[in-house]
Amino acid sequence: MDGIERRELVKAVAAGTIGLSIGGAQSLLTANQACAQGTPIRAWPNKQLLDLLKINHPIIQAPMGFHTSPDMPIAVSSAGGLGSFPCAPLTPAQLRDVVAKIRAQTTKPLNLNFFCHLTQRDAELETAWLKRLASYYAELGVSSPVFPASTRPSFGAEMCDVVAELRPEVVSFHFGLPEKSLVDRLKAAGCVILSSATTVTEARWLEEHGVDAVIAQGIEAGGHRGMFLTTEPASQLGTLVLVPQVVDAVKVPVIAAGGIADGRAIAAAFALGASGVQMGTAYLLCPEARISPHLRSALRAAKDNLTVLSNVISGRPARVFMNRIVREVGPLATGVPSFPLGGTALEPLRTKAESQGSADFSGLYAGQAAALGRELPAGELTSKLAAEALERLGELARAC
Ligand SMILES: Cc1cc2nc3c(=O)[nH]c(=O)nc-3n(C[C@H](O)[C@H](O)[C@H](O)COP(=O)(O)O)c2cc1C
Repeated sequence: MDGIERRELVKAVAAGTIGLSIGGAQSLLTANQACAQGTPIRAWPNKQLLDLLKINHPIIQAPMGFHTSPDMPIAVSSAGGLGSFPCAPLTPAQLRDVVAKIRAQTTKPLNLNFFCHLTQRDAELETAWLKRLASYYAELGVSSPVFPASTRPSFGAEMCDVVAELRPEVVSFHFGLPEKSLVDRLKAAGCVILSSATTVTEARWLEEHGVDAVIAQGIEAGGHRGMFLTTEPASQLGTLVLVPQVVDAVKVPVIAAGGIADGRAIAAAFALGASGVQMGTAYLLCPEARISPHLRSALRAAKDNLTVLSNVISGRPARVFMNRIVREVGPLATGVPSFPLGGTALEPLRTKAESQGSADFSGLYAGQAAALGRELPAGELTSKLAAEALERLGELARAC
């Protein structure tokens, strides 16, 4: 493919025309459309996810709690991917507002994302943890926090009613699924249901409990592990080994997540049998991301070996950039209060340190592919990723 034809391919993909025209007998792009040598370029190897989600590119922008502005899903969905908004921290009224804002800008499919965690209270453990952090509270001159008497339920009937009324095309969950009656309610409202699995057992469980597609989240992933049937972070799998085993185990489409940051990795996900990808870290440097100056600097300076899996930031294992609290107390500690109370314990330290220009106590969530990040608008990045992946798949097909 020469430079001009490559640009034409990129433009066509950006316009969404190639992604829509694939499948069956029409799944090959002809040579004069895309390849100087007359070698056909094979488009997306399977259309399962495109058909299920009614999108042009099999790319889901990951919901990233506290890091996603409404402009991000607007841009990604408008570009033909699936834009997601993280709703775990929102009240029902805030959810209505944000969905109204997104719907005013795009009629394309939208994913709303929620957590399904159970916070286990243990007063003795919580007190012991505050004692463990006492020297930090003293050093920064802040009071140790008081844990709330009760924590907000992760996804209950009230929120479900609002979501069913708003009818997003897709609802995704992290840390399992809510109770069956709530899943049924969302399905009856026409929502496609997704959730993350970090093992084959979790993937099978999700399929048995009604998901329409499984997100196979490898250990490379930024943010929280979606693990919900295992509590053992040390045995979590990489994307390269998790995806094909999940593909073999379930009938629903599989979405690969974790360490995917460019077209090469998207092509690899298809080679493993995935029907699409979910990407988070790759979108963190987009102008539509809401990130602190500390996380921005860490991302810009990222190398391959700077992230670790740690539970000290929130109480659940998550991939973050190494910083002082992770190094000194973790990365994986025993005795951390249950999610999200681990974060409550650090909150006064984080606030004080950040006001002094330090990220020593911040949660700098990012994945192992952080160094591959590009500072592009989210829509442009989505189009570029799709074009790169199709080009890579074409190169691989020609090599055979
Ligand atoms: C900053 C950040 C925040 C995240 N927050 C959420 C979230 O709120 N809900 C969720 O389902 N996944 C969340 N994730 C995980 C993603 O869904 C996804 O599994 C992950 O980003 C994929 O790996 P990658 O970061 O290497 O692309 C988050 C990831 C990052 C990087």
